[in-house]
Amino acid sequence: MQNNTFITLFVGQSLVKLSKVDSTNSYLKKLLSNSKPLVEGTVIMADHQLAGRGQYSNKWESEDGKNLTFSIYLKPSFLNANHQFELNKAISLGINDCLRAIIGDDCKIKWPNDIYYQDQKMGGILIENITKGYLLKESIVGIGLNVNQIEFSKDLSRVISVSNVLGKEYDLQKLLMLICESVERRYLQLKAGKLELLEKDYLQRMFRFEDKHSYEIGNQKVAGIIKGVNPAGKLLLKTDDGLKELDLKEVAFIFD
Ligand code: BTN
Repeated sequence: MQNNTFITLFVGQSLVKLSKVDSTNSYLKKLLSNSKPLVEGTVIMADHQLAGRGQYSNKWESEDGKNLTFSIYLKPSFLNANHQFELNKAISLGINDCLRAIIGDDCKIKWPNDIYYQDQKMGGILIENITKGYLLKESIVGIGLNVNQIEFSKDLSRVISVSNVLGKEYDLQKLLMLICESVERRYLQLKAGKLELLEKDYLQRMFRFEDKHSYEIGNQKVAGIIKGVNPAGKLLLKTDDGLKELDLKEVAFIFD
């Protein structure tokens, strides 16, 4: 482990840089199962993940040395386990805050926590929580962000990188530091109980919020308007059949 010059209170103050690992989330999980306690805010980053994991057992692909793939260790023990979506909001807002300053307002959060630029995916977040009773005890916040990769596998559609937007490369170390700073800022707002602010900002940055678009629900194409997210993190979608509360497996975004 090495110290660095991040201007943060704790996120990234302890930074482990690996050239190759299966998955930074899995590595962090293994570290936690060792007896020595980890400092909150520890960041594990890797140049290359051999088995990067995405949501719902998907793989996370990233070209060697071109992008950011890292995990942050947090201890949100102030949060009730059934309010864990609040953490998703804070993390996705932190990343969005940072990216908007670099690539502009077209950077959005696609529910639940994908990082989008216009209608293409730039990054994803995989949060793995460890609960104790009713409370969240620890969280492994895995972040994958396409930064300097120019071309993507043909199997992946609608993917974009920071450098695709800027037309030039962006310094990975600098971006990591900026993201750690903005994630910490949002995490501290969460810790301070600023839930209304986080909700307001999340909705304001939400991809397709209050716009009519097509969705697939139960093999049917329906028109819907996103109205928000409920406390359990389900998508609130207004359709001709009324307001639906949907989880990730129940709804797919259709790109017309
Ligand atoms: C998604 O499916 O959109 C979430 C992708 C999360 C990928 C990141 S890369 C760093 C961390 N380690 C992993 O194995 N996954 C997350």
